Amino acid sequence: MAVTIIDKQYQKIVSDIIENEEFSKLKDINHHGITRYEHSIKVSYRAYKIAKFLNLDYKAAARGGLLHDFFISSNDKTHKESVRLTFTHPRIARDNAHNIFMTNIKEDDIIVSHMFPFYIKFPKYAESWIVNLTDKVIGTTEFVQKFDYKLSYAANILLLFAINHIK
Ligand SMILES: [Fe+2]
Ligand SMILES: [Fe+2]
Repeated sequence: MAVTIIDKQYQKIVSDIIENEEFSKLKDINHHGITRYEHSIKVSYRAYKIAKFLNLDYKAAARGGLLHDFFISSNDKTHKESVRLTFTHPRIARDNAHNIFMTNIKEDDIIVSHMFPFYIKFPKYAESWIVNLTDKVIGTTEFVQKFDYKLSYAANILLLFAINHIK
């Protein structure tokens, strides 16, 4: 699934990130059944719209949201590695974002606190809360869709098996 956002203002705010070679690597990383690139754009654009609606800093919401999962990981992670990254990736993403895109204090907070309360870094800004909650809603939806897909796949296999064995 390709995510294309036709919103000139949004595009202008995030274009340097979208066009960055390092950030483009997220296109190859699986994330809740889609790519980490697609997940990041979904969270970023939704957070941008909410922040704009609430008259908040929509630029920080868009950029922080886009970079909240900016870390490179293998698609063949062990379970142990996945668990470890659940708790360490907010800091890794914040450091990557800060080093490459010189993110500001608010954007850094958005990124490092997006896993609260699973990762103990309390969100300091309203925009951090927006990205935190948007990520949870979108992440949970993606996870359920992935699970549904696996369930329906398993159900189809079982059905085929049953049909083949019913005489
Ligand atoms: Fe995350
Ligand atoms: Fe996320």
